[in-house]
This record gives sequence, structure tokens and C-alpha cells, in this order.
Amino acid sequence: MPSDAARRSIIIDTDPGQDDAVAILLALGSPELDVLGITAVAGNVPLHLTEKNARKICELAGRPDIAVYAGADRPMERDLVTAEHVHGKTGLDGPDLPEPAMKLQDRHAVDFIAETIMSRPAGEVTLCALGPLTNIALALRKEPAIAGRIRELVMMGGGCFEGGNVTPTAEFNIYVDPQAAQLVLRSGIPTTIMPLDCTHKALTSAERTAAIRALGTPVAQATAQLLDFFERFDEEKYGTDGGPLHDPTVIAWLLKPELFSGRTVNVEVETGSELTMGMTVVDWWRVTEREPNALFVRDIDADGFFKLLTERLAVL
Ligand code: BDR
Ligand code: CA
Repeated sequence: MPSDAARRSIIIDTDPGQDDAVAILLALGSPELDVLGITAVAGNVPLHLTEKNARKICELAGRPDIAVYAGADRPMERDLVTAEHVHGKTGLDGPDLPEPAMKLQDRHAVDFIAETIMSRPAGEVTLCALGPLTNIALALRKEPAIAGRIRELVMMGGGCFEGGNVTPTAEFNIYVDPQAAQLVLRSGIPTTIMPLDCTHKALTSAERTAAIRALGTPVAQATAQLLDFFERFDEEKYGTDGGPLHDPTVIAWLLKPELFSGRTVNVEVETGSELTMGMTVVDWWRVTEREPNALFVRDIDADGFFKLLTERLAVL
């Protein structure tokens, strides 16, 4: 176990979601990471389900001590769009997980994010964003000084060469709250983006899921059931064997950045046109004078990623 000083302090902002759930499990199985709290946002399903799902996953991992906070129940300006067609009615369809006994924290997620970053030493807290960026944008609006104190924001969202997954040009997390995404990307926070260009290469397969199931623990069993449910939609959509495991790439980046490669470029978000709403406009070829604002990851060593995931799930 690394010493406390060597561990990286993270806040996970999330809308579970099967792939969010696996990302949370990966974080809780990794001794290098100190999870300061989990903040839920409306996204894949409404807030009352995402916060409950976050608590279910903490309990599955044997970590009812993790503080879970509820945040924004809707995007900053637009109506909430959800994705039950992908994640099922509960957002966490697949395993039959018990209703959580652990309590939801009283404090609002936005207050928790802002106050934690302000009260900890500058450069200490890493934000992991696995859903729409509403909570993080609201925290920036409430306390703009957090931008200069965050060590890194690692977010799953957007796409460039891969196009979109909810409209032809937009990825779900950005599409749900484009105004929030634009505010965050213009904030100056050191940012790493795991877009569809990367996550569409992190595909589950019968073999990869079997390796997880073979761990034989209740966590492994539930994870395999989550993956089985989650991949069925994308298998049909993309004609692949398996589906992209988006959100755990965010956590894997913190653990093994050598599994990934990308470019530091300018990324802006379309917030005006309904046709391309929520599109990430990525200056991959650096054809503008716009300042680079994010490391945009394009490639992943998928075998290394699934090996890491399986190893870390084994300790839970
Ligand atoms: C993203 O959208 C959600 O459905 C997933 O949880 C992931 O965060 C992929 O576009
Ligand atoms: Ca998510």
C-alpha cells in the first residue's frame, strides 16, 4: 500500500451507468488512489437513480465508508436527455444488487467539490468526470478559484475522427450539457480527455469478460453481469463482439498513463447549432491559432487496459 502522501486524491463525478460502475470499482481496487468522495449527476438516468447506483457500487465493493453526494438534477440550460435504451431502466441493469443501506450525504455535490478543492493544498485534487459536466461547471461558477487549484481533470467525453454516439456529431456526456462542457474546457484546468476515439478501442469481448468472471468473487460476478448487459446495445449498433468500456479509461489513465497516447490540442464545444449541438471541435491538425486546452487521447493498449482492470477487480 503506498503511503498516504504518495496516493493520488480524487473525486469521481459520475452518472452510473454500468461503465461508470466499473470505473468506480477500478478506483476502489487501486491502492494508489484515495477516493475523497463520489458526486452524482443526472445523465444516463435521472439523479435519484445515479446517486443510488453510486451507493450500490460502493457497497458492492465493501466500501460503505465512501461519501456519496447528489448534485445537479438537470443540465445548466437544456432539458435532461437520458440513456435508458443503453443502460436499462435503473441505469444499472444486469446484476441484482440490493438497495443500499449507506446514507446519501446531506451536502450538495457542487459544494463538496468546491469546498474540498479550496480546503486542500493547491494541486492536490484530481477530478474524474464520467458523466455530463454539470456539477463541475457549477462548482467553477460558484468558486472560480478552484480552476487554478485542481491537479488535473480527466474526463470521458467527445469525439473527433470517430464522430458521435448520440447524434452523428456528438458524444452523450457532452451532448447532455454542452454549456457545462464548454465552460469547463475554457476554465484553464489541466485537462485530459478520453473521447470515443480512444474508448471505441477498449472493447469488451467474450474472453475479456470471462477472465473477469473467472475471478470468482461477488464483485467479479456482478461486473461480468454489468458488462454482459452493457455490451448488448453496442454490439448490435456497431456490429462488434463486445462494447466500448468508456468510463474506466479515465481511472486507468491515472494508474498507467503509458497505456494511452494522444495530442495536446484545442477543443471547443458546439453550443449554438441544433444540428451539431454538443460536438467537440478538435483542432487535431493545429490549423487554428486557438490555444491548446486539453490532452486529447486517441489510442489505448486495450489488452493492457483489460489486464489492469481484471487485476484490480481481483482485490475487491
Ligand atoms: C458515455 O455516456 C454514457 O452512456 C457512458 O456512461 C459514458 O460516460 C459514453 O458516451
Ligand atoms: Ca458515464
